Amino acid sequence: MQKSERVNFGSKIGAVLAAAGSAVGLGNIWRFPYETGNHGGAAFILVYLACVLMLGMPIMIAEFTVGRHSKASTGRAYKVLAPGTHWKWLGYLGVLAGFLILGYYSVVAGWTLEYILEAGVNDGIEKSSKVLMPVLFILIVVLVGCSLSLPNAEKGLEFLLKPDFSKVNGDVFLGAMGQAFFSLSLGMGCLSTYASYFGKETKLGNTALSVGVIDTFVAVLAGLIIFPAAFSVGIQPDAGPSLIFITLPNVFQQAFSGVPILAYIFSVMFYVLLALAALTSTISLHEVVTAFLHEEFNLTRGRAARLVTFGCIIIGVISSLSLGVMQKYTLFDKGFFDLLDFVTAKIMLPLGGLLVCIFVGWYLKRSVSYEELTNGGKLKAGLFNLYIFLLRYVAPVAIILIFINELGLI
Ligand code: TRP
Repeated sequence: MQKSERVNFGSKIGAVLAAAGSAVGLGNIWRFPYETGNHGGAAFILVYLACVLMLGMPIMIAEFTVGRHSKASTGRAYKVLAPGTHWKWLGYLGVLAGFLILGYYSVVAGWTLEYILEAGVNDGIEKSSKVLMPVLFILIVVLVGCSLSLPNAEKGLEFLLKPDFSKVNGDVFLGAMGQAFFSLSLGMGCLSTYASYFGKETKLGNTALSVGVIDTFVAVLAGLIIFPAAFSVGIQPDAGPSLIFITLPNVFQQAFSGVPILAYIFSVMFYVLLALAALTSTISLHEVVTAFLHEEFNLTRGRAARLVTFGCIIIGVISSLSLGVMQKYTLFDKGFFDLLDFVTAKIMLPLGGLLVCIFVGWYLKRSVSYEELTNGGKLKAGLFNLYIFLLRYVAPVAIILIFINELGLI
C-alpha cells in the first residue's frame, strides 16, 4: 500500500480500541484460564503479571515504534527502517507466526460458533472494535456476577488469589511468558502493523498502558468466571485446552439445574462473548498476513485475503483433526494442534519479541524512540529512560534466561 493511501484510525480512542480488540480474545478467555489451571493458579498469575509489566509493556511500545515510524505493515517495516539488512527476516518470522496462529486460533473460534449463529459482520477494524469491545465487557461483568454467586465459589477464588509458590518452576515461567506474548498480541508484528495506521497524535506509551490494563483485566475476569464455576461443580482446573469448552456446558447445566432457561442464557451469552472476542483478534492476525501478500506479491487485497483464508482452513482442518481421528500422529509427544500452540506462543513469539528488543533498543537510533514516544518532543518524556532500560536489558535478558532454563542448561 502506498504511504499516501494509509488511512489513520480516526480518533485517539480508535487506536486503543483497535489494539485492545486484537489483544483481547481467546487468549484471555480460553487460553489464560487453562494455562493458569495447568500451572497451579495464583502463583502463575503473579509471574504472568510480572511478564506483562516487564516484557509486555516495553515490547508493545517498541512494536508501536516500528509500525508508526515505518508506516508499513510488519512484512515491510524492517526493510524501510533497516534497508539492505537481514532484519527483514524478523518481519517474515512474524508473518509466519501469524499465519500458524491463525490456523489453530480459528479452530477454537470455530468451537465457539457451534453454540451460536454466526453474525458475520465485519465493517472495518475500527468500527467493529468500537461496538464489540464494550458489549464484550458488559457481558463479562454480568457473567462474573453469576459465577461468583454459585455455591462453593470461594474455592475457585482461593485458587486464583492465594499463591502456592511451591508450584513455581521453569515451566511456569515459560508458560507465563508465552501467555503474555500471546494475550497481548506481541512478538509477531501484529500491533506494529496496527501502529502503522496510528495518527501522529496517538500517544504510544499511554496506548500501550491502556491495552495492557484492559487485556489483563479481561483475563482476570475470565478467571473469575471459570474457576469459581469449575470448583463449584468439582471440575479439575488442569483440564487443558478443553477446559472451557468441554467442562463449562456441564457447569452451566449443573449450576442452574433448577432453571434450565438460565443455563441456556448463561451459556449462549458466554459463547457469544467468546466469538466476539475471537473475531476482532482474528481480523488482526489475518491483516498481517494479508498485508504481506498484498504488498510483497502484488496481489489485490481481496485475493490476498482469500489466499490467507484458504491456507488457514487447511491448517485449521489438520489441527482440528489432530484432536480427533488423527490423534495418534504426534511429534515430540504433541499432536499438531498442541505443537502449533507450543511452537508459536512459547518459541516464535518470545523470539520475535527478543529480536524487537534488540532492533529498537540497540539497532535503531535512540532519537527515533524518543521522537516516537514523545510525539516529536511534544509530550513529557518522564519514563523514557525506564522504558529504554527495560527494552535494552531487562526484557532481552529475561527472555534469554527463560529459554536457557527451558533447554535445561541452567
Ligand atoms: N491476543 C489475541 C488473544 O488474546 C490473539 C492474537 C491476535 C495474537 N493477534 C495476535 C496472538 C498476534 C499473538 C500474536 O486472543
